[in-house]
Amino acid sequence: MRKLLITGGAGFIGANFVHYWARQHPGDRLVVLDALTYAGNPANLEGLPAGADWRLVHGDICDQPLVEQLLAAEKIDTIVHFAAESHVDRSIAGPEAFVQTNIVGTHTLLLAAKKSWPEGGDFLFHHVSTDEVYGSLGPADPPFSETTPYAPNSPYAASKAASDHLVRSYHHTYGLPVTTSNCSNNYGPYQFPEKLIPLVLINALDGKPLPIYGDGGNIRDWLQVEDHCRGIELVMNKGRRGETYNIGGHNEVTNLEIVHLLCRTLDHHFSTDPALARRFPHCPAAQRQSCAELITFVKDRPGHDRRYAIDPTRAEKELGYTPAYSFEAGIEATVDWYLAHEPWWRAILDGSYAEWVSTNYRNRN
Ligand code: NAD
Ligand code: TYD
Repeated sequence: MRKLLITGGAGFIGANFVHYWARQHPGDRLVVLDALTYAGNPANLEGLPAGADWRLVHGDICDQPLVEQLLAAEKIDTIVHFAAESHVDRSIAGPEAFVQTNIVGTHTLLLAAKKSWPEGGDFLFHHVSTDEVYGSLGPADPPFSETTPYAPNSPYAASKAASDHLVRSYHHTYGLPVTTSNCSNNYGPYQFPEKLIPLVLINALDGKPLPIYGDGGNIRDWLQVEDHCRGIELVMNKGRRGETYNIGGHNEVTNLEIVHLLCRTLDHHFSTDPALARRFPHCPAAQRQSCAELITFVKDRPGHDRRYAIDPTRAEKELGYTPAYSFEAGIEATVDWYLAHEPWWRAILDGSYAEWVSTNYRNRN
C-alpha cells in the first residue's frame, strides 16, 4: 500500500492520473495538492471509485510549511509531481508565474521531500516533465532521446528544464530517490480548452474560427493521456532511480492534419446523429457544411518550435512500455468525451466554475 502526494492532481494530466491510479491501485491513499489555478478544477476528480481513499488539499507547492506538514501527517512515501504552469502562450505573455511554480515550486517540494525522506527508506519523487525541454527538431533530425542536449525555447520549456535539473541534482548530490519522465503532447478527457485539441473541438461546435498559428505545418508527437499515465506508472514501479525516461507514441502529426481530422470526425458525428444539430446549431455541420470551413490562419506564435518527436526506446526496452491507443481511436474517444461533457466545458467558458472554486475553496483544506 502506497501513500501518494499528487501535485497538480486537479489539472488535466494529474486528474487523469488520479482516476487511473484509483482504478489500478484501489488500496492506496491519494492526497492531491493543488492550488486550483485557472487550470485546476475540482470537478475533474468527480466520479472516482466509491471506495477510493483520497483527499483534495487546496494549497500551493511553494508553501513549504504546508508541504512539510502534509508529508509528515499523511506519511507520504511517493510524490508524483504534475503541478505546473503548462501553457506556452501564457508563458510568453507572463513568464513570472512559470518561474515561480515550475522552478521555485519544484525546489520547495524537493526541499520538503529531502527533509521527510527516511534515508535508505522506501521513498520516490517522480517528476513529470515535457519533451519541450529539448527544443525544436528539423525535418530530418532523429527524435529526442534521453541524451539529446537541452535547448528550451519558450519560458515554459526553460522553466521545466530548470526543474528537471534541480530534480536530477537532488539525486546526484543527496541521493534522493527520483525518477523523471519527459512526455510529448497529451490529449484526452479534462484537457483545458486553451490547448489545441479541445479549443478546436469547442470552437467548431460553437461555429467560431479555428485558429491555426503560422502555416499549420508544426509537428507534435501526440499521446493519449491514459497512455502517459501508464508510462508514468511503469517508470515509478520499474524505472532506475536517478534516471529519466522519454514517453511518446511514435505519432508525429502536423497541426493542420489534426484540425482536419477533428473536423472530419465532427462532420461524421453530425451526419449520423440529428440531435447534435439541435444542440449545436451554430456548428457548420448542423447545416451539412464541413467544420473545416472555420479554419483560420493567424499570426504565428513567437519562437514557435517547428517539430517535437520522441524516441521512447529506453522506456520500451527497460520498462516494456507501449501505448495502447491508436491516434484515430484516441481522437474518436476524445471527441465523444467532449460531446458527452458539455456542462464541464461550458462551466469553464462562462466562468461559473472559477466562481464556484473561489467561493467553495477559499481557505479550505
Ligand atoms: P494543467 O495546466 O492542466 O494542470 C496544472 C495543475 O497544476 C492545475 O490543476 C493547477 O491548478 C496546478 N497548479 C499550478 N500551479 C500550482 C501551484 N503553485 N501549486 C499547486 N498546484 C498548482 O497541466 P497539464 O497539462 O495537466 O500538465 C501537467 C504536467 O505535465 C505539467 O508538469 C506539464 O509540464 C507536464 N506535461 C504536460 C504535457 C501536455 O501535453 N499537457 C505534456 C508533457 C508534460
Ligand atoms: P498547444 O496545445 O498549446 O501545445 P504546445 O504548444 O505545448 O505544443 O499547441 C499545440 C500546437 O498547436 C502548437 O504547435 C501550437 C498550435 N496551436 C494553434 O495552431 N492554434 C491554437 O489555437 C493553439 C492553442 C495551438
